[in-house]
Amino acid sequence: MPREIPAQHFPDGFLWGCATSAYQIEGSPLADGAGASVWHRFSHTPGRVVANETGDIACDHYRRWESDIDLMQRLGLQAYRFSIAWARILPEGIGRVNPLGLGFYERLIDRLLAKGIQPTATLFHWDLPAALDDRGGWLNRDSADWFAEYADIVYRRFDDRIKLWATLNEPWVVSDNGYLHGTAAPGHRNIFEAPIATHNLMRAHGAAVQAYRATGRHQIGLVVNIEPKYAASQAADDLAATRRAEAQMNRQFIEPALLGRYPQEMREIFGDAWPDWPAADLQQIHQPIDFVGLNYYTRSVTKHDPQAWPLRATPVKQTQHPHTEMGWEVFPQGLTDTLLWIKDRYGNPPVYITENGAAFADPAQADGELLEDPLRVDYFRTHIRAVHDALRAGADVRGYFAWSMLDNFEWALGYSKRFGIIHVDYQTQKRTLKASATFFADVIASNGAVAF
Ligand code: BGC
Repeated sequence: MPREIPAQHFPDGFLWGCATSAYQIEGSPLADGAGASVWHRFSHTPGRVVANETGDIACDHYRRWESDIDLMQRLGLQAYRFSIAWARILPEGIGRVNPLGLGFYERLIDRLLAKGIQPTATLFHWDLPAALDDRGGWLNRDSADWFAEYADIVYRRFDDRIKLWATLNEPWVVSDNGYLHGTAAPGHRNIFEAPIATHNLMRAHGAAVQAYRATGRHQIGLVVNIEPKYAASQAADDLAATRRAEAQMNRQFIEPALLGRYPQEMREIFGDAWPDWPAADLQQIHQPIDFVGLNYYTRSVTKHDPQAWPLRATPVKQTQHPHTEMGWEVFPQGLTDTLLWIKDRYGNPPVYITENGAAFADPAQADGELLEDPLRVDYFRTHIRAVHDALRAGADVRGYFAWSMLDNFEWALGYSKRFGIIHVDYQTQKRTLKASATFFADVIASNGAVAF
Protein backbone atom coordinates (compact mmCIF):
# COMPACT_ATOMS: atom_id res chain seq x y z
CA MET A 1 0.00 0.00 0.00
CA PRO A 2 1.51 3.35 -0.97
CA ARG A 3 1.64 5.62 2.05
CA GLU A 4 -0.67 8.61 2.16
CA ILE A 5 1.01 11.70 0.66
CA PRO A 6 -0.49 15.09 1.56
CA ALA A 7 -2.10 16.75 -1.47
CA GLN A 8 -0.21 20.03 -1.42
CA HIS A 9 2.93 19.63 0.57
CA PHE A 10 5.62 17.02 1.20
CA PRO A 11 5.63 14.30 3.87
CA ASP A 12 7.03 15.12 7.31
CA GLY A 13 10.78 14.58 7.45
CA PHE A 14 11.33 15.22 3.74
CA LEU A 15 14.85 16.68 3.55
CA TRP A 16 15.48 19.97 1.72
CA GLY A 17 18.96 21.16 0.87
CA CYS A 18 21.40 22.60 -1.64
CA ALA A 19 24.35 20.98 -3.36
CA THR A 20 27.82 22.04 -4.52
CA SER A 21 31.11 20.30 -5.30
CA ALA A 22 34.67 20.97 -4.17
CA TYR A 23 36.44 21.92 -7.39
CA GLN A 24 33.50 24.02 -8.55
CA ILE A 25 33.41 26.36 -5.55
CA GLU A 26 36.40 26.07 -3.24
CA GLY A 27 39.30 27.73 -5.06
CA SER A 28 42.75 27.56 -3.39
CA PRO A 29 43.24 24.09 -4.89
CA LEU A 30 46.81 23.70 -3.66
CA ALA A 31 46.43 25.45 -0.30
CA ASP A 32 47.62 23.90 2.96
CA GLY A 33 49.57 21.13 1.28
CA ALA A 34 46.82 19.78 -1.01
CA GLY A 35 47.86 17.81 -4.08
CA ALA A 36 46.75 18.81 -7.57
CA SER A 37 43.75 17.05 -9.10
CA VAL A 38 43.09 16.06 -12.69
CA TRP A 39 40.72 19.03 -12.97
CA HIS A 40 43.49 21.38 -11.90
CA ARG A 41 45.66 19.99 -14.67
CA PHE A 42 42.87 19.92 -17.23
CA SER A 43 41.82 23.52 -16.62
CA HIS A 44 45.46 24.63 -16.76
CA THR A 45 45.86 23.09 -20.21
CA PRO A 46 45.08 25.80 -22.79
CA GLY A 47 42.03 25.09 -24.92
CA ARG A 48 40.31 22.66 -22.55
CA VAL A 49 37.97 25.08 -20.75
CA VAL A 50 36.01 28.00 -22.22
CA ALA A 51 38.16 31.17 -21.99
CA ASN A 52 40.86 29.01 -20.33
CA GLU A 53 39.16 29.54 -16.98
CA THR A 54 40.23 27.47 -13.97
CA GLY A 55 39.05 26.63 -10.47
CA ASP A 56 41.98 28.51 -8.91
CA ILE A 57 39.67 31.02 -7.25
CA ALA A 58 36.13 29.87 -8.14
CA CYS A 59 33.81 31.11 -5.35
CA ASP A 60 36.71 31.36 -2.91
CA HIS A 61 34.66 29.13 -0.64
CA TYR A 62 37.81 27.64 0.88
CA ARG A 63 38.24 30.99 2.61
CA ARG A 64 34.64 32.19 2.73
CA TRP A 65 33.03 29.02 4.03
CA GLU A 66 31.84 30.62 7.26
CA SER A 67 29.89 33.41 5.62
CA ASP A 68 28.60 30.93 3.03
CA ILE A 69 27.18 28.82 5.85
CA ASP A 70 25.55 31.98 7.25
CA LEU A 71 23.78 32.33 3.90
CA MET A 72 22.65 28.72 4.05
CA GLN A 73 21.24 29.34 7.49
CA ARG A 74 19.46 32.44 6.22
CA LEU A 75 17.71 30.27 3.61
CA GLY A 76 16.75 27.73 6.26
CA LEU A 77 18.55 24.84 4.57
CA GLN A 78 18.03 21.57 6.40
CA ALA A 79 20.94 19.87 4.66
CA TYR A 80 23.98 20.76 2.59
CA ARG A 81 25.53 18.38 0.07
CA PHE A 82 29.21 19.10 -0.59
CA SER A 83 32.06 16.99 -1.92
CA ILE A 84 35.42 16.30 -0.34
CA ALA A 85 38.53 16.95 -2.43
CA TRP A 86 40.46 13.68 -2.25
CA ALA A 87 43.79 15.42 -2.92
CA ARG A 88 43.32 17.70 0.10
CA ILE A 89 43.09 14.61 2.34
CA LEU A 90 45.76 12.54 0.54
CA PRO A 91 47.98 14.81 -1.57
CA GLU A 92 49.44 11.80 -3.42
CA GLY A 93 46.04 10.05 -3.51
CA ILE A 94 47.22 7.25 -1.18
CA GLY A 95 49.62 6.97 1.72
CA ARG A 96 50.38 10.21 3.52
CA VAL A 97 47.39 11.93 5.11
CA ASN A 98 47.30 15.73 5.20
CA PRO A 99 45.80 16.84 8.54
CA LEU A 100 45.19 20.35 7.22
CA GLY A 101 42.92 18.98 4.49
CA LEU A 102 40.89 17.03 7.04
CA GLY A 103 40.84 20.15 9.20
CA PHE A 104 39.09 22.20 6.54
CA TYR A 105 36.20 19.75 6.24
CA GLU A 106 36.10 19.29 10.00
CA ARG A 107 35.51 23.01 10.54
CA LEU A 108 32.93 23.07 7.76
CA ILE A 109 31.02 20.09 9.17
CA ASP A 110 31.09 21.37 12.74
CA ARG A 111 29.84 24.77 11.77
CA LEU A 112 27.05 23.31 9.65
CA LEU A 113 25.97 21.23 12.62
CA ALA A 114 26.17 24.22 14.94
CA LYS A 115 23.79 26.03 12.58
CA GLY A 116 21.38 23.11 12.47
CA ILE A 117 22.27 22.09 8.90
CA GLN A 118 22.86 18.41 8.21
CA PRO A 119 26.15 17.86 6.33
CA THR A 120 26.01 15.25 3.57
CA ALA A 121 29.24 14.34 1.82
CA THR A 122 30.15 13.01 -1.61
CA LEU A 123 33.54 11.32 -1.67
CA PHE A 124 34.29 11.80 -5.34
CA HIS A 125 32.98 14.55 -7.56
CA TRP A 126 35.48 14.08 -10.45
CA ASP A 127 38.64 15.60 -8.92
CA LEU A 128 40.92 12.54 -8.90
CA PRO A 129 44.34 13.30 -7.38
CA ALA A 130 46.77 13.98 -10.24
CA ALA A 131 49.34 11.69 -8.62
CA LEU A 132 46.93 8.81 -9.17
CA ASP A 133 46.33 9.84 -12.76
CA ASP A 134 50.09 9.47 -13.18
CA ARG A 135 49.61 5.82 -12.20
CA GLY A 136 46.87 5.37 -14.81
CA GLY A 137 43.94 6.87 -12.92
CA TRP A 138 40.70 4.94 -13.38
CA LEU A 139 42.39 2.66 -15.93
CA ASN A 140 44.46 1.11 -13.16
CA ARG A 141 42.74 -1.81 -11.42
CA ASP A 142 44.25 -0.65 -8.13
CA SER A 143 42.04 2.44 -8.26
CA ALA A 144 39.31 0.57 -6.35
CA ASP A 145 41.74 0.02 -3.47
CA TRP A 146 42.99 3.60 -3.61
CA PHE A 147 39.44 4.87 -3.32
CA ALA A 148 38.57 2.53 -0.45
CA GLU A 149 41.71 3.64 1.42
CA TYR A 150 40.73 7.30 1.08
CA ALA A 151 37.09 6.60 1.92
CA ASP A 152 38.03 4.72 5.05
CA ILE A 153 40.11 7.65 6.36
CA VAL A 154 37.22 10.03 5.81
CA TYR A 155 34.59 7.71 7.36
CA ARG A 156 36.68 7.20 10.47
CA ARG A 157 37.05 10.90 10.94
CA PHE A 158 33.54 12.09 10.10
CA ASP A 159 30.97 9.30 10.32
CA ASP A 160 30.11 10.40 13.85
CA ARG A 161 28.78 13.61 12.29
CA ILE A 162 27.72 12.69 8.74
CA LYS A 163 24.62 10.59 8.27
CA LEU A 164 24.39 10.53 4.47
CA TRP A 165 27.32 9.60 2.28
CA ALA A 166 27.67 9.22 -1.46
CA THR A 167 30.55 7.31 -3.04
CA LEU A 168 30.74 8.65 -6.62
CA ASN A 169 28.97 11.55 -8.27
CA GLU A 170 27.87 10.77 -11.83
CA PRO A 171 30.46 8.19 -12.89
CA TRP A 172 28.98 8.49 -16.39
CA VAL A 173 30.57 11.91 -16.82
CA VAL A 174 34.00 10.59 -15.85
CA SER A 175 33.82 7.61 -18.19
CA ASP A 176 31.98 9.23 -21.11
CA ASN A 177 33.28 12.79 -21.06
CA GLY A 178 36.61 12.04 -19.41
CA TYR A 179 37.74 8.87 -21.22
CA LEU A 180 35.52 8.49 -24.31
CA HIS A 181 35.03 12.01 -25.67
CA GLY A 182 37.83 13.94 -23.96
CA THR A 183 35.66 16.88 -22.89
CA ALA A 184 36.28 16.47 -19.14
CA ALA A 185 39.37 15.53 -17.14
CA PRO A 186 41.52 13.60 -17.80
CA GLY A 187 40.62 14.43 -21.41
CA HIS A 188 41.12 11.11 -23.18
CA ARG A 189 39.27 10.11 -26.34
CA ASN A 190 39.54 6.36 -26.43
CA ILE A 191 36.81 3.79 -26.91
CA PHE A 192 38.96 1.07 -25.38
CA GLU A 193 39.54 3.03 -22.21
CA ALA A 194 35.98 4.12 -21.39
CA PRO A 195 34.70 0.60 -20.51
CA ILE A 196 37.72 0.04 -18.24
CA ALA A 197 37.15 3.39 -16.53
CA THR A 198 33.49 2.51 -16.02
CA HIS A 199 34.33 -0.82 -14.52
CA ASN A 200 37.02 0.47 -12.17
CA LEU A 201 34.79 3.34 -11.04
CA MET A 202 32.12 0.81 -10.17
CA ARG A 203 34.61 -1.48 -8.45
CA ALA A 204 35.73 1.56 -6.45
CA HIS A 205 32.12 2.27 -5.52
CA GLY A 206 31.69 -1.32 -4.34
CA ALA A 207 34.94 -1.28 -2.38
CA ALA A 208 33.99 2.00 -0.67
CA VAL A 209 30.58 0.61 0.32
CA GLN A 210 32.28 -2.51 1.74
CA ALA A 211 34.67 -0.30 3.70
CA TYR A 212 31.72 1.69 4.99
CA ARG A 213 29.96 -1.42 6.28
CA ALA A 214 33.08 -2.21 8.31
CA THR A 215 33.20 1.15 10.10
CA GLY A 216 30.19 3.34 9.25
CA ARG A 217 26.93 3.53 11.15
CA HIS A 218 24.73 5.58 8.84
CA GLN A 219 23.73 5.56 5.17
CA ILE A 220 25.64 5.37 1.93
CA GLY A 221 24.57 5.50 -1.72
CA LEU A 222 25.61 6.20 -5.28
CA VAL A 223 24.76 9.37 -7.23
CA VAL A 224 23.81 8.89 -10.87
CA ASN A 225 22.65 11.27 -13.56
CA ILE A 226 19.61 10.01 -15.40
CA GLU A 227 18.23 11.66 -18.49
CA PRO A 228 15.17 9.72 -19.63
CA LYS A 229 15.26 8.83 -23.30
CA TYR A 230 12.11 8.99 -25.41
CA ALA A 231 12.12 7.63 -28.97
CA ALA A 232 11.70 10.23 -31.72
CA SER A 233 9.49 7.77 -33.64
CA GLN A 234 8.28 4.22 -33.46
CA ALA A 235 10.59 3.18 -36.32
CA ALA A 236 12.65 0.13 -35.35
CA ASP A 237 16.00 1.91 -35.75
CA ASP A 238 14.89 4.86 -33.58
CA LEU A 239 13.65 2.51 -30.90
CA ALA A 240 16.94 0.60 -30.94
CA ALA A 241 18.93 3.86 -30.80
CA THR A 242 16.86 5.00 -27.82
CA ARG A 243 17.52 1.73 -26.04
CA ARG A 244 21.29 2.10 -26.61
CA ALA A 245 21.29 5.71 -25.41
CA GLU A 246 19.32 4.74 -22.34
CA ALA A 247 21.65 1.85 -21.55
CA GLN A 248 24.80 3.93 -22.01
CA MET A 249 23.72 6.89 -19.93
CA ASN A 250 21.05 5.64 -17.56
CA ARG A 251 21.73 1.97 -16.86
CA GLN A 252 25.50 1.57 -17.26
CA PHE A 253 26.14 2.48 -13.60
CA ILE A 254 22.96 1.98 -11.61
CA GLU A 255 22.39 -1.49 -13.02
CA PRO A 256 25.65 -3.11 -11.85
CA ALA A 257 25.27 -1.39 -8.46
CA LEU A 258 21.66 -2.49 -7.90
CA LEU A 259 21.37 -5.66 -9.99
CA GLY A 260 24.95 -6.89 -10.34
CA ARG A 261 25.09 -6.78 -14.16
CA TYR A 262 25.82 -4.38 -16.98
CA PRO A 263 23.17 -3.74 -19.63
CA GLN A 264 23.50 -6.14 -22.57
CA GLU A 265 23.54 -3.15 -24.93
CA MET A 266 27.07 -2.23 -23.76
CA ARG A 267 28.54 -4.80 -26.14
CA GLU A 268 26.34 -3.53 -28.97
CA ILE A 269 27.67 0.00 -28.36
CA PHE A 270 31.32 -0.67 -27.62
CA GLY A 271 31.86 -3.85 -29.65
CA ASP A 272 35.17 -5.55 -28.84
CA ALA A 273 36.12 -2.67 -26.56
CA TRP A 274 33.61 -3.98 -23.99
CA PRO A 275 35.29 -6.94 -22.23
CA ASP A 276 33.68 -9.82 -20.38
CA TRP A 277 34.11 -8.87 -16.75
CA PRO A 278 34.92 -11.39 -14.02
CA ALA A 279 31.85 -12.44 -12.01
CA ALA A 280 33.74 -11.71 -8.79
CA ASP A 281 34.07 -8.06 -9.83
CA LEU A 282 30.34 -7.79 -10.35
CA GLN A 283 29.77 -9.26 -6.93
CA GLN A 284 32.01 -6.63 -5.43
CA ILE A 285 30.15 -3.88 -7.27
CA HIS A 286 26.74 -5.25 -6.24
CA GLN A 287 26.76 -4.16 -2.60
CA PRO A 288 23.50 -3.27 -0.88
CA ILE A 289 23.22 0.52 -0.75
CA ASP A 290 20.92 2.63 1.38
CA PHE A 291 19.69 5.03 -1.26
CA VAL A 292 20.02 6.12 -4.87
CA GLY A 293 21.09 9.74 -5.43
CA LEU A 294 19.43 11.05 -8.57
CA ASN A 295 20.71 14.06 -10.50
CA TYR A 296 18.05 15.17 -12.96
CA TYR A 297 18.25 18.09 -15.38
CA THR A 298 16.51 17.23 -18.65
CA ARG A 299 15.32 14.51 -21.00
CA SER A 300 16.35 13.56 -24.49
CA VAL A 301 14.25 12.60 -27.50
CA THR A 302 16.43 10.22 -29.45
CA LYS A 303 16.77 9.10 -33.06
CA HIS A 304 19.03 6.75 -34.98
CA ASP A 305 22.13 8.45 -36.38
CA PRO A 306 24.83 6.32 -38.00
CA GLN A 307 27.32 9.23 -37.76
CA ALA A 308 27.11 9.57 -33.96
CA TRP A 309 30.11 7.73 -32.51
CA PRO A 310 29.91 5.26 -30.90
CA LEU A 311 26.24 5.28 -29.91
CA ARG A 312 24.66 5.71 -33.34
CA ALA A 313 22.00 7.75 -31.56
CA THR A 314 21.45 11.48 -31.43
CA PRO A 315 19.07 13.86 -29.62
CA VAL A 316 16.35 15.71 -31.53
CA LYS A 317 15.73 19.24 -30.26
CA GLN A 318 12.19 19.78 -28.95
CA THR A 319 11.34 23.34 -29.97
CA GLN A 320 7.90 23.32 -28.30
CA HIS A 321 9.46 23.67 -24.81
CA PRO A 322 11.82 26.26 -23.31
CA HIS A 323 15.51 25.43 -23.03
CA THR A 324 18.08 26.47 -20.45
CA GLU A 325 21.38 28.18 -21.24
CA MET A 326 22.92 24.71 -21.43
CA GLY A 327 20.60 24.01 -24.37
CA TRP A 328 18.69 21.56 -22.17
CA GLU A 329 14.93 21.21 -22.60
CA VAL A 330 12.87 22.13 -19.54
CA PHE A 331 10.84 18.95 -19.04
CA PRO A 332 9.61 18.37 -15.48
CA GLN A 333 7.54 15.35 -16.49
CA GLY A 334 10.85 13.59 -17.13
CA LEU A 335 11.64 13.81 -13.42
CA THR A 336 8.36 12.12 -12.49
CA ASP A 337 8.94 9.50 -15.19
CA THR A 338 12.49 8.85 -13.97
CA LEU A 339 11.44 8.45 -10.34
CA LEU A 340 8.74 5.99 -11.37
CA TRP A 341 11.17 4.15 -13.64
CA ILE A 342 13.55 3.71 -10.67
CA LYS A 343 10.65 2.58 -8.50
CA ASP A 344 9.40 -0.01 -10.99
CA ARG A 345 12.71 -1.25 -12.36
CA TYR A 346 14.74 -1.42 -9.16
CA GLY A 347 12.17 -2.31 -6.49
CA ASN A 348 11.44 1.16 -5.13
CA PRO A 349 14.70 2.01 -3.36
CA PRO A 350 14.84 5.19 -1.26
CA VAL A 351 15.86 8.09 -3.52
CA TYR A 352 17.28 11.50 -2.80
CA ILE A 353 17.20 14.02 -5.62
CA THR A 354 20.84 15.00 -5.11
CA GLU A 355 20.82 17.64 -7.88
CA ASN A 356 18.19 19.49 -9.86
CA GLY A 357 18.44 23.00 -11.23
CA ALA A 358 19.00 25.18 -14.25
CA ALA A 359 21.46 27.62 -15.84
CA PHE A 360 19.91 30.82 -17.11
CA ALA A 361 21.54 34.02 -18.32
CA ASP A 362 21.82 36.05 -15.12
CA PRO A 363 23.90 39.22 -15.39
CA ALA A 364 27.59 39.14 -14.43
CA GLN A 365 27.02 41.85 -11.86
CA ALA A 366 24.02 41.91 -9.58
CA ASP A 367 22.50 45.30 -9.10
CA GLY A 368 20.63 45.70 -5.81
CA GLU A 369 19.70 43.33 -3.02
CA LEU A 370 17.80 40.70 -4.97
CA LEU A 371 18.24 39.44 -8.49
CA GLU A 372 15.06 38.42 -10.29
CA ASP A 373 15.37 35.05 -12.05
CA PRO A 374 11.82 34.08 -12.95
CA LEU A 375 12.85 31.27 -15.31
CA ARG A 376 14.81 29.53 -12.56
CA VAL A 377 11.96 30.00 -10.07
CA ASP A 378 9.63 28.42 -12.57
CA TYR A 379 12.06 25.56 -13.16
CA PHE A 380 12.19 24.79 -9.43
CA ARG A 381 8.43 25.13 -8.97
CA THR A 382 7.57 22.74 -11.78
CA HIS A 383 10.23 20.20 -10.88
CA ILE A 384 9.29 20.18 -7.20
CA ARG A 385 5.73 19.48 -8.26
CA ALA A 386 7.04 16.70 -10.49
CA VAL A 387 8.72 15.11 -7.46
CA HIS A 388 5.45 15.37 -5.56
CA ASP A 389 3.60 13.65 -8.42
CA ALA A 390 6.06 10.76 -8.20
CA LEU A 391 5.62 10.53 -4.43
CA ARG A 392 1.88 10.33 -4.86
CA ALA A 393 2.39 7.55 -7.39
CA GLY A 394 4.35 5.59 -4.79
CA ALA A 395 8.01 6.50 -5.39
CA ASP A 396 10.07 6.51 -2.17
CA VAL A 397 11.65 9.96 -2.45
CA ARG A 398 13.30 11.17 0.75
CA GLY A 399 14.74 14.56 -0.09
CA TYR A 400 15.59 17.20 -2.68
CA PHE A 401 18.82 19.19 -3.15
CA ALA A 402 18.84 22.21 -5.43
CA TRP A 403 21.82 22.60 -7.76
CA SER A 404 23.41 24.87 -6.89
CA MET A 405 23.87 26.89 -3.76
CA LEU A 406 26.18 29.33 -5.61
CA ASP A 407 27.01 30.17 -9.22
CA ASN A 408 30.20 28.22 -9.84
CA PHE A 409 32.79 26.71 -12.18
CA GLU A 410 30.73 24.75 -14.69
CA TRP A 411 33.58 22.42 -15.72
CA ALA A 412 34.61 22.77 -19.39
CA LEU A 413 32.18 25.68 -19.70
CA GLY A 414 34.07 27.70 -17.10
CA TYR A 415 32.09 30.51 -15.49
CA SER A 416 29.89 31.03 -18.55
CA LYS A 417 26.88 29.19 -17.08
CA ARG A 418 25.18 30.20 -13.86
CA PHE A 419 23.31 27.52 -11.91
CA GLY A 420 23.27 29.24 -8.52
CA ILE A 421 20.29 30.32 -6.47
CA ILE A 422 22.83 32.78 -5.07
CA HIS A 423 24.59 35.02 -7.57
CA VAL A 424 28.38 35.32 -7.38
CA ASP A 425 30.19 38.36 -8.74
CA TYR A 426 33.55 36.79 -9.60
CA GLN A 427 35.37 40.13 -9.52
CA THR A 428 34.39 41.00 -5.97
CA GLN A 429 33.11 37.64 -4.64
CA LYS A 430 29.95 39.43 -3.55
CA ARG A 431 27.01 37.09 -3.07
CA THR A 432 23.49 38.29 -3.95
CA LEU A 433 20.36 36.27 -3.39
CA LYS A 434 18.31 35.49 -6.48
CA ALA A 435 14.53 35.28 -6.30
CA SER A 436 14.98 31.50 -6.68
CA ALA A 437 16.82 31.51 -3.33
CA THR A 438 13.96 33.21 -1.52
CA PHE A 439 11.51 30.94 -3.34
CA PHE A 440 13.49 27.90 -2.22
CA ALA A 441 13.60 29.24 1.34
CA ASP A 442 9.79 29.44 1.20
CA VAL A 443 9.63 25.91 -0.18
CA ILE A 444 11.61 24.67 2.80
CA ALA A 445 9.65 26.70 5.34
CA SER A 446 6.33 25.44 3.94
CA ASN A 447 7.55 21.88 3.25
CA GLY A 448 6.82 22.35 -0.42
CA ALA A 449 3.42 24.02 -0.14
CA VAL A 450 4.45 27.22 -1.97
CA ALA A 451 5.19 25.23 -5.10
CA PHE A 452 1.47 24.56 -5.58
C1 BGC B 1 27.18 17.73 -11.98
C2 BGC B 1 27.52 19.13 -11.55
C3 BGC B 1 27.25 20.09 -12.69
C4 BGC B 1 25.78 20.03 -13.03
C5 BGC B 1 25.34 20.94 -14.15
C6 BGC B 1 25.99 17.62 -12.86
O1 BGC B 1 26.36 16.91 -14.00
O2 BGC B 1 27.19 16.84 -10.92
O3 BGC B 1 28.84 19.16 -11.13
O4 BGC B 1 27.65 21.39 -12.41
O5 BGC B 1 25.41 18.73 -13.37
O6 BGC B 1 25.91 20.60 -15.36
